[in-house]
Amino acid sequence: MEVISKHRQQAEFTLDPKKAGTDDIVNMLRDNGVAILPNFLNKAELELMDKEFEKVVKAKGRGIKSFPLEKGEGVGLTRNKLRVKDYPSTSEFFNRPFMHEIASKYVHPTANLNSKIYVVRDIIGTTTYANDLHFDVQKCLKFFLYINDVTANNGAFEYAAGTHKWVEDMRRSDKAKEITFENRELSRQLPYEEEHVMSLEAPAGTLFLFDTDMFHRTGTTSMGERKIMRGHTYFDEVKDSDPIFRKTIR
Ligand SMILES: [Fe+2]
Repeated sequence: MEVISKHRQQAEFTLDPKKAGTDDIVNMLRDNGVAILPNFLNKAELELMDKEFEKVVKAKGRGIKSFPLEKGEGVGLTRNKLRVKDYPSTSEFFNRPFMHEIASKYVHPTANLNSKIYVVRDIIGTTTYANDLHFDVQKCLKFFLYINDVTANNGAFEYAAGTHKWVEDMRRSDKAKEITFENRELSRQLPYEEEHVMSLEAPAGTLFLFDTDMFHRTGTTSMGERKIMRGHTYFDEVKDSDPIFRKTIR
């Protein structure tokens, strides 16, 4: 099979959050499937977020679903049901105007920004279905925030830049109807070489965005823990005849 990625440097996908505009970020996403904004949160913001992480990861209530992890812990939040007064930092962060602008440009003008937010602590021994290189059956744009420093030892995100184009072509082809959760294995049969997979090692407060059509996986945690929050903006929540917005769950 054709190998569609070449060896690249992470710096190519990195932007200065103080200088980059939403068009720069959107162009980076379109070209590479990923855009990295190091030190996106300052120290004070990060401290608040870290405190709130510890509260929200154990939260129960309206619009909050904890999910079963044998090791580690995690919750899924429905953003529009989240009580702002209970979780002010999380609510504010995933509702920032620049995120609306990006979702509107990259996904669709009617996109439901960060309709779901996931808050997850991985510890040693946490394993998920996402440990194998894959694309998500349900295409989405993710805003992904590292709450602590992340290295290859504690589950750095891994990705093959540019590969989202291969999946987008499939979504617009006759093969599109085969992209379903029932046929999930398809999303793991990918043309890539291990040496093209990069590890996103970065300090706490780094925000990155990625299109889940890009091949990616979660590294495993062999030391310490990994604390992350991420917002999902789903393409298939958009009503549009372009096959990229096709429903993948029945
Ligand atoms: Fe994924």
